[in-house]
Amino acid sequence: MDKFIIKGGRRLTGEVTISGAKNAAVAILPAVILSDEPCIIENVPSISDVNISLRILEEMGAVVESPANNVYRIDPTHIDKYCVPYETARKMRASYYFLGALLGKFNKARVSMPGGCPLGDRPIDQHLKAFSALGAEYTLSQGMIDLKADSLKGSQIFFDVVSVGATMNALLASVKASGLTVIENAAKEPHIVDLANFLNSMGANIMGAGTDVIKVRGVEHLHGANYAVIPDQIEAGTFMIAAAATQGDVIIKNIIPKHLESITKKLEKIGVNIELYDDSLRVWTEGPLVKANVKTTPHPGFPTDMQPQIAALLTLAEGTSIVTEGVWEQRFRYVDELRRMGADITVNGKVALIEGTGKLMGAPVKACDLRAGAALIIAGLAAQGITEIEDIYHIERGYDCMEGKLKELGADIEKVSIPDKLDDKNDKKAVV
Ligand code: EPZ
Repeated sequence: MDKFIIKGGRRLTGEVTISGAKNAAVAILPAVILSDEPCIIENVPSISDVNISLRILEEMGAVVESPANNVYRIDPTHIDKYCVPYETARKMRASYYFLGALLGKFNKARVSMPGGCPLGDRPIDQHLKAFSALGAEYTLSQGMIDLKADSLKGSQIFFDVVSVGATMNALLASVKASGLTVIENAAKEPHIVDLANFLNSMGANIMGAGTDVIKVRGVEHLHGANYAVIPDQIEAGTFMIAAAATQGDVIIKNIIPKHLESITKKLEKIGVNIELYDDSLRVWTEGPLVKANVKTTPHPGFPTDMQPQIAALLTLAEGTSIVTEGVWEQRFRYVDELRRMGADITVNGKVALIEGTGKLMGAPVKACDLRAGAALIIAGLAAQGITEIEDIYHIERGYDCMEGKLKELGADIEKVSIPDKLDDKNDKKAVV
């Protein structure tokens, strides 16, 4: 098991380049299954969730090669299995995208239910609603989801909640369905648009991605494509906050400023300076940070995946801030860890009250999920003294070379291996 050891108190300065977006890549890689020819995907982040997606593709018979760093050539033409077993599916929540992709290609799929969940209840009823609307039948037994259809037919899909995963799966399953599919109350995140753009580059006919009504006119065949994944808005936002928390001055490269609007506006309210360029930005802080209220909502609102990081920043700001989680049931589990570092945070249901103390102290802490881990890194960088973060496998699921990038910016952060404790020896179940 590895952990990070951070000596806090160093200003971050210099330049950092953002990697491809995790939440786009984990949908685009399974989408390659729909193609009748090989595809080349570029700007793929080096993270464990991507490694798992690639392993699943290989286990199903795809030929995966990496001709250059962060570039994969995937030939799906030899895929002869339609099953993602428990052992692989439980390691990554996004394994559910294999349901939509396999169903869309072969009219059948068998994928294990994703395992336990650290963010509260994470149902997939809306995914199943979309598959049913397209004409598939599903059965759930022995922890497996089985989907099958004689043929898929375009249909009207109305989501009861705005769901990124269900919208992606509806796209994957409908691109080759006959006729017109209309997806209403769709999610609008940049990764939805990225998946739609990738599918369109293979010959799909998708209109309206990025709005709440998406129309898909089914096509018979999808051809190979060469496509680059968008930059990761959440990685960019995390580095912006790390710079702000250390009173730093950092240029963040390979970003799409439009994707960062809600984060940029909120940070400016907190007293962070931001200058936007075409595909980069400068973020710096001079002087005190001030309180703010933050409520997470689906895109274009403030992203839930930035909530723990901004809460860490607000512990350093003057005054009382209120952070309200509007997407997940339980996304404040990291608060106990920040309290160990001296943060004054009270949680009541989906609302956290943060009394800015202006400073944090290093402590041994544990990452309980991906973004919680990012928040602890930010807190550790800003804290006085040494912070040791355990369970960093969560962080490595979604951040490409986090410690290397932070070191380049002047952070004192090391990754060290510690022997497994007896009760840690069972494989961890990371499923965010
Ligand atoms: C995606 O999860 C992201 N994961 C999450 O990122 C992100 O937090 C989330 O979207 C919201 O932006 C990936 O893209 C792989 P949802 P997803 O379906 O698709 C409810 C990170 O840190 N819901 O949009 O699983 C659900 O309970 C991760 O990178 C249903 O009720 O999230 C939640 O309250 C964490 N029924 C809300 O919708 C369903 O069938 C939004 O969930 C599906 C969802």
